[in-house]
Amino acid sequence: MLITVVTIFPEMFPGPLSHSLIGKGIGRIWNLKIVDIRNFAEDKRNTVDDTPYGGGPGMVMKPDVVHEAMNHALSFYKNKPEIVFMTPRGGVFSNKMAKDFSKNHEGMIILCGRYEGVDQRVIDYWKKKYEMKEVSIGDYVLFGGEIPAMVVVDTCLRFSSGIMNNIESTVEESFSIDLLEYPQYTKPMTWNGYDVPSVLLSGNHGKIASWKLEQSKQVTRDVRPDLWARFKNNRE
Ligand code: ADE
Repeated sequence: MLITVVTIFPEMFPGPLSHSLIGKGIGRIWNLKIVDIRNFAEDKRNTVDDTPYGGGPGMVMKPDVVHEAMNHALSFYKNKPEIVFMTPRGGVFSNKMAKDFSKNHEGMIILCGRYEGVDQRVIDYWKKKYEMKEVSIGDYVLFGGEIPAMVVVDTCLRFSSGIMNNIESTVEESFSIDLLEYPQYTKPMTWNGYDVPSVLLSGNHGKIASWKLEQSKQVTRDVRPDLWARFKNNRE
């Protein structure tokens, strides 16, 4: 699977993506290419942005430059990859989206926006022609799409076979079934005056499973009433 990130900050990558299980999979299970948008600027000063028509603060990324960078990224693929544009104006990213993206064996291209935005025409063009999806990682605004892109890559790779051999754990985990995860404990049995819940030491698998489910329900009810409502709805 090839993941290509299109950015004006190539030096931010692979960054955190070179660590942990994901990092171990680079070059084996997945590959990362970075396209530096600045290489596609047409003037001597490598201009990638300009002032917005109609006025307003900040700068807007130029459509011609972004388009050429995206075309270059596309040339790495035989078939159509998933194409994603990181923007706070997108649909909110979820485990379900990650699972869908990871089904495309070609991989994905992720465009990172910066400044006040990207010229709308190049967004419209790529949406229409290549079904590019606009994706936000949540209702807050970062300086750019690079960290959001890392979030998307990390999450998608958890669904790609090879990295997570223990697929069950992705299924069981938070959000896969609309409930947050139950608490986990390891040795020592007593730490700082706190004991591991005795049911986990009972060896009774049925009891342990119902305790885990009950804990999941409780934490979801307490901290995420929105997820709790969805869980209840889905079960009815
Ligand atoms: N760029 C800036 N903020 C963002 C967000 N919340 N999600 C995706 N891309 C972004």
